[in-house]
Amino acid sequence: MAIDVELVRADTPGLLRGIHLNHAGASPSPGPVLDTVIGHLRREAEVGGYEAAAERAEDLRGVYRSVGRMLGCSTEEVALTESATRAWELAFWSLPLGPGDVVLTTSSEYVSNALSLLLARERRGVVVEVLPDGPDGAVDPAELARRLERGPAALVALTHVPTSGGLVNPAAEVGAVCRAAGVTYLLDACQAAGQMDLDVTALGCDLLSATGRKFLRAPRGTGFLYVRSGILEQLRPPFIDAGSAVWTGPETYEVLPGATRFEAWERSWANQLGLGAAVEYALALGLDEIAVRVTALGAGLRERLRELPGVTVHDRGTQRCGIVTFTVDGHGPGDVVQRLAGAGVRVWTVPAVAAQLDLGRRGLPEVVRASVHYTSTEEELDLVTNLVAELPRA
Ligand SMILES: Cc1ncc(COP(=O)(O)O)c(C=O)c1O
Repeated sequence: MAIDVELVRADTPGLLRGIHLNHAGASPSPGPVLDTVIGHLRREAEVGGYEAAAERAEDLRGVYRSVGRMLGCSTEEVALTESATRAWELAFWSLPLGPGDVVLTTSSEYVSNALSLLLARERRGVVVEVLPDGPDGAVDPAELARRLERGPAALVALTHVPTSGGLVNPAAEVGAVCRAAGVTYLLDACQAAGQMDLDVTALGCDLLSATGRKFLRAPRGTGFLYVRSGILEQLRPPFIDAGSAVWTGPETYEVLPGATRFEAWERSWANQLGLGAAVEYALALGLDEIAVRVTALGAGLRERLRELPGVTVHDRGTQRCGIVTFTVDGHGPGDVVQRLAGAGVRVWTVPAVAAQLDLGRRGLPEVVRASVHYTSTEEELDLVTNLVAELPRA
């Protein structure tokens, strides 16, 4: 069923003021998510944090069920974290990678993941190889297959949707190549979660990390990690605490079964309950319906901007999403953001330091990033396009 745009907009206080085109940064939460978070904070203030948590223990288990339903996996394969980066790091540093082990990645890799890869090169002697882009700028699964025929790799690390552009990498095709070659596959689905369906079986990934605050519209400070049960026993969490292991005796401990072994004991119950509410909200709308609408709105904004003289749209890829990147002649991206903000439009920038393998290599110091969601409207896109068109030309 098509999304009732009026209804979802009415549900979102954050859309009452201005035009929000920064869903790839953080998307304003809908009412049910806000109510869940604020309600729990209030309860903590009334009865105490531990007591409030005890009251909602079953609901917290429900968050794992919601995430599991969204990803098509079991609750034991889900760990809740405070960010996508923490989820990715937990997965990556758990892998038994040593000197000479090859990690294959792509130009889409997220900045913090890429930094970890550099650190692993320094500390563990792993070899990091960046696969050449396919002709459209996305990863080329056939190229990956050829690379794996030439020699082994210990890990393929792919970012599904980069922070720096609108392309959607063929993550499931990469998964099929990894499965056939028996290579571990770590997928950063941070920008994909909430804007498209994510089925871990179809994606063929062993590990998947994502955040709550972006297209899922959960509060900040939330994230999750999927760990395929078949790979779990090969992983040693890089650190453990009372939430991930049991101190069985003065000299002994046991890590918890399932993906819980990657969790910290302390957590924001309000935020994590909010994450569950956000996942349920997205599932109720339908991730396929969301993808159709977001893709169409993203394409519409790209088309409009492309027609403006002096505006260059930088998105690559054959399959694209709700992220639109562009530059305007005579205006730095920061200036465009400020001028649009002055007119009540919220967009953001991505500098090359956040995407060296992508923007850096393309010689783009910084781009403006406008990201639509299913709450966006054609009228909003017309308005934003007019504002960009009216920017004084140098
Ligand atoms: C592709 C991608 N991966 C990971 C992250 C990191 O997410 P978090 O800030 O929740 O750690 C981001 C954030 O922008 C991202 O765009």
